[in-house]
Amino acid sequence: MMAFCTLDGVDARGKRVLVRADLNVPMHDGVITDDTRLQRVAPTIRELADKGARVVVFSHFDRPKGQVVPSMSLRPIALKLGQILGQPVGFVAECVGPTVEAAVGAMADGDIIVLENTRFHAGEEANDPEFAKALAQNGDIFVNDAFSAAHRAHASTEGVAHDLPSFAGRLMQAELSALSAALENPERPVGAIIGGSKISTKLDLIGNVIEKVDTLFITGAMANTFLAAEGMNVGKSLQEADMHETARRIAHLAQEKGCEIVLPVDAVVAREFKANVPTETCLIGEVPDDAMILDAGPRTVELIRDRLDTLRTLVWNGPLGAFEIAPFDRATVEVAQYAAQLTEEGKLKTIAGGGDTVSALRHAGVVDEMTYVSTAGGAFLEWLEGKILPGIEVLRSAGHDLGLT
Ligand code: 3PG
Repeated sequence: MMAFCTLDGVDARGKRVLVRADLNVPMHDGVITDDTRLQRVAPTIRELADKGARVVVFSHFDRPKGQVVPSMSLRPIALKLGQILGQPVGFVAECVGPTVEAAVGAMADGDIIVLENTRFHAGEEANDPEFAKALAQNGDIFVNDAFSAAHRAHASTEGVAHDLPSFAGRLMQAELSALSAALENPERPVGAIIGGSKISTKLDLIGNVIEKVDTLFITGAMANTFLAAEGMNVGKSLQEADMHETARRIAHLAQEKGCEIVLPVDAVVAREFKANVPTETCLIGEVPDDAMILDAGPRTVELIRDRLDTLRTLVWNGPLGAFEIAPFDRATVEVAQYAAQLTEEGKLKTIAGGGDTVSALRHAGVVDEMTYVSTAGGAFLEWLEGKILPGIEVLRSAGHDLGLT
């Protein structure tokens, strides 16, 4: 049960609905390179417009640090959103003040406008109550559909919810149900693939995940630190020598909690980290002194596949190797495709998230086959760490205030 209000039963007709979207999409030379976030927020906007709301969308974009930075304007993104929605979307070159008031005042039921980047104002990141009030002034209700920005206690994600009746949008709702099915209330056995280069950046995350899963696959360069801590020679591989004691403590804690940690048993190694350099496959323990581990080997892939057969739920964050450069993408691709197959056969629920993970799954061509792929990067990681996300917490308490769940 979600203790916050959703759009079910909201009478939006004629109301000014402020929708906090995350329009922070990747852009290169003014061209949007991935419009997934726009595609995923579109149903909430469409539903509200169809219900006769006057939909006022606002968001941050990039990190202008309280200054107006023309290259960080939301104007081109508003245009793209209109194309995705298949209906005109207006744009206002401000997010607070009289221009916005006039534009919102002139809207008809079913109209949609996008306001300018909230981070052009210092009050946004400072969560200044006055700035939050200025934002709230242009709405009758607030809909937060930006799970991926919910780890930020900013005026547009947190502050504004104190000033208006607040609801979770459809994307927020979908993210929260998927995440709850992954770790809060999963079908067991549940496993997690946690990869990445450094354990020092994922300590809280591993600590939280160990408490919740039955099997933890540690992959990527992070695994090298665990292997080296066990006394294995990892040659010239990336690893954190000052984290060996921590790695041993994590392994011990996992044992106490009944969580099995699975580490690579073999590796693909090379002397240089470059595309298509000569590689060797060797067992862990036989890595040459002058080589570095750049991918998990075929026996590790086999081991993970066998374990996946026994799981009902899989949480995935982080690749298995240096997947950006061929041929070190092989283990990530093979495991992703196998998880996708099990998911399609209804044997496994796979919930994935985090920037690199989504790129890796896209590279493997299996994003659409997963049970749920989160649009969030940092917010997904903070959620995996077990942290309270301010943008969600405020919605929860707003739900209680309204006596709704
Ligand atoms: C993201 O891309 O993870 C969100 O939009 C948050 O962006 P931020 O890290 O700049 O706050």
